[in-house]
Amino acid sequence: MEEPRPPLERDDVLRLAHELMAGTVSGQFRLPDDLAVVAASGSGAHLYDLDGRRYIDYMLGSGPVLLGHAHPEVVAAIVEQAARGSTFYVLNSPTIELAQRIVEVMPCAQQVKFASSGLEATLYALRMARVFTGKPKILKFAGGFHGSHDVGMINAFTEPVQYPCGTFDSGGVPSGVADDVIVSRWNDFSMTEDLIRRNAGELAAVICEPMQRCLVAAPGFLRMLRAVTASAGVLLIFDEMVTGFRFALGGAQERYGVVPDLATFGKALTNGMPMTGIAGAAEIIEVAQPQSSLPASGAYYGNTLNGNPLCAAAGLATLGVLSRPGTYDRLEATTGELRRGIERAAADQGVVVQLLGDGPVVQVAFAEHPIGDVAGLKRADSARAGRFLLECARRGVLSSGKFYVSVAHSNDDVDETVEVVAEAIAASAV
Ligand SMILES: Cc1ncc(COP(=O)(O)O)c(C=O)c1O
Repeated sequence: MEEPRPPLERDDVLRLAHELMAGTVSGQFRLPDDLAVVAASGSGAHLYDLDGRRYIDYMLGSGPVLLGHAHPEVVAAIVEQAARGSTFYVLNSPTIELAQRIVEVMPCAQQVKFASSGLEATLYALRMARVFTGKPKILKFAGGFHGSHDVGMINAFTEPVQYPCGTFDSGGVPSGVADDVIVSRWNDFSMTEDLIRRNAGELAAVICEPMQRCLVAAPGFLRMLRAVTASAGVLLIFDEMVTGFRFALGGAQERYGVVPDLATFGKALTNGMPMTGIAGAAEIIEVAQPQSSLPASGAYYGNTLNGNPLCAAAGLATLGVLSRPGTYDRLEATTGELRRGIERAAADQGVVVQLLGDGPVVQVAFAEHPIGDVAGLKRADSARAGRFLLECARRGVLSSGKFYVSVAHSNDDVDETVEVVAEAIAASAV
């Protein structure tokens, strides 16, 4: 029998990550080696590394862990379902119950399809929109991130050289993909309305994050999108991967009172299990019905793990906790404390910061000008923001850019965070 391997030390993990995994587990976020965190476990708002060091975690797994790590009710639901089987590929009760629950809470949801990542969910939503409308093009916003599929890689983080022609934020994307994508500027009413109306005959959908990264929509912007798309025969898709179940049980559509035709969601739904989805009007979702003959005219949809009961059980438990009275008030109160603490810490040092974001999501930008779009973000001091996050990590507070606040963050966590933030603001000055 093979000898059990000795547990890996932190340095082994770092070396092997470079050798075997091109550096990171999940994506683009990487701390320098001296600060890199190798997670051993998480509990509530805290993450522990291999050496037992405790961090106050505002990454929350890049957003999903809204209830805090290893929430006992979610753990129990997963364990219970795992003992009955982890995937079936056919209809099962937890998945249907979760769809029922989503239809109850999400304003746009008449029907739901599940997927496993945000990338898949937005890819399918765009495909359904093209099939439903019979039109080829998509309008997205510069700086709007919708996952790393080909359309998603058009101006996900940057502005195009010339609006509305998209440019790529990744190599390896076939150049023709840009022919069917129109790029507009976030919060630019006249450019966006004009592009939608001029391209209505070819435009299947407008997709946006209802809060683009941490850039809140200007007053009336989402309502304008709703009205103009509706009158132009174009679908409106809210990518609620970040805002879904976090801004309210019904997501940003509930918080802002604007209901899209389709919404994609994930992250906070399961407190960290790989399940996302697409919800919307029944007549649109139905274009993803199984195809009875090929070549297909409907929207092909299907992945091995869609509708996975293990994830669905976690989702039901998560929504159960989120549905309790007072949950969102507590989240807002904790986030308010954090915002006020950061503002005070900066003001005490005479440093101008702007706190972007809404709901339980905060981003610290070092800028005096109001930031409403990618160009505004670009003019902020991003080098200082980068140094600030490293200084936070050095002192045991983790954020990869956004500070995601969880239900588990306590007042003590916030107080400790504000002390660290004050030191990190000072240490990040050059
Ligand atoms: C708004 C939005 N859409 C889509 C995605 C992609 O999700 P995933 O990383 O699960 O593919 C993300 C991920 O951060 C996101 O924030």
